[in-house]
Amino acid sequence: MSIPKTHYFEAQPAVASRPRTVRFRFGELDLTLQTDRGVFGSKGVDLGTRMLLREAPPPPLEGDVLDLGCGYGPIAIVLAKLAPGAQVWAVDVNERALELTRANAEAAGAANVTVSTPGKVPDEVRFEAIYSNPPVRVGKGPLHALLLEWLPRLKPTGAAYLVVQRNLGSDSLARWLTEEGFAVTRLKSKKGYRILQVKAAS
Ligand SMILES: C[S@@+](CC[C@H](N)C(=O)[O-])C[C@H]1O[C@@H](n2cnc3c(N)ncnc32)[C@H](O)[C@@H]1O
Repeated sequence: MSIPKTHYFEAQPAVASRPRTVRFRFGELDLTLQTDRGVFGSKGVDLGTRMLLREAPPPPLEGDVLDLGCGYGPIAIVLAKLAPGAQVWAVDVNERALELTRANAEAAGAANVTVSTPGKVPDEVRFEAIYSNPPVRVGKGPLHALLLEWLPRLKPTGAAYLVVQRNLGSDSLARWLTEEGFAVTRLKSKKGYRILQVKAAS
């Protein structure tokens, strides 16, 4: 019997649910987050995600902020707790991940998180900042399409912060973003990860 192949970026993960909790400490925050099989980082908050939160600038204190590909919500919830006056959009295609983010945001008292499928974010929303541990494993074409869908929704003064592993193509992604006309700065390179800042070219 073959084991069904599953990916963390499916709308409905094929693997049966097996809920668990993980603890995530970030600065003063001490979060207990629900996770599940079929969701990215289900055994603990990813090293790249931790690095992004540590190395990227803190979120703006107000306005709309996006966590693109929120998984079970560690980035969105930390941003929302650091900036209670901001509106944090937590977006994913994986419905199990979205349910977990909803529950985790509520448990953390992060009322300023709006959990949404990509298509439900109103067209007119423009972001002060985007934070993402993007779904590199979807493949180059879909990843590029995803970034070209969301990066143009930054406000002119806004910036996106991406964490990408070097061996999963961070440097070629940075080159491609530059070719597409974005201003890309490598903020940090550590333990095989790059933190990229992406802005609209001036
Ligand atoms: C590397 S994981 C990061 C998850 C979470 N932010 C974290 O740091 O633990 C990338 C996430 O992007 C989501 N994703 C894949 N394709 C997407 C798309 N087209 N739009 C939004 N999210 C997507 C995946 O389901 C996955 O949860």
